[in-house]
Amino acid sequence: MSDTKSFIVAVTGASGAIYATRTMRAMLAAGNHVHLVLSKYGRYVMHEELGWEPDNESILDFLARTTGDEIRAGTLEEHGVNDLTRAISSGSSPVSGMVVVPCSAKSLAAIAHGTSSNLIERSADVTLKERRPLVLVIRETPMNLIQLRNMVTVAEAGAAVLPAMPAFYQKPKSFDDLGDFIAGRALSLLGVDHELFEPWTGPQ
Ligand SMILES: Cc1cc2nc3c(=O)[nH]c(=O)nc-3n(C[C@H](O)[C@H](O)[C@H](O)COP(=O)(O)O)c2cc1C
Repeated sequence: MSDTKSFIVAVTGASGAIYATRTMRAMLAAGNHVHLVLSKYGRYVMHEELGWEPDNESILDFLARTTGDEIRAGTLEEHGVNDLTRAISSGSSPVSGMVVVPCSAKSLAAIAHGTSSNLIERSADVTLKERRPLVLVIRETPMNLIQLRNMVTVAEAGAAVLPAMPAFYQKPKSFDDLGDFIAGRALSLLGVDHELFEPWTGPQ
């Protein structure tokens, strides 16, 4: 496995909270440190789609209960989305990369235009300026011209656009398998080793 590193995981208010939990599971199980930032609607969608009750259960306990105790191999630190004083607001913070999973069209727009008005937008801005990998797991359909142009803008600025489009050639049997496909593609782009799915090796 790769050396232990720190990554920023931002969860915004698009559908597909399972992509966030499977990504965090894999990063933590590999022993990494996760800086987690949840937007207001990211938190809401995790409640709506996965049943997380943030007032009654910490995110770490929720991840352990729903994805397995192997996440305890890593460490997780949650940051308030409106707290721009956090270390990850600065390029001097030793972070290896960032994934926004899922990434709403609204956060895509903010990142594309460098607004930096909350900790997710600011840390994405910093990740780009420091030439570190930034992966945006966009989830919207259909897409309008503004959203398509924003994806071109972030790609030109160096981000990887990873639409939440799982493949089916691995014959997924569960939502977790679908989530792990997207999590695995994100981890590969961030340079984290994983065995989340079998790579395609050609016809058998
Ligand atoms: C249940 C629910 C599902 C949503 N799904 C999406 C989605 O798939 N994609 C998207 O771009 N926005 C979606 N939205 C809208 C965003 O949550 C909204 O634009 C919000 O302002 C995003 O802010 P954030 O990026 O700071 O989380 C959804 C909202 C709700 C309540």
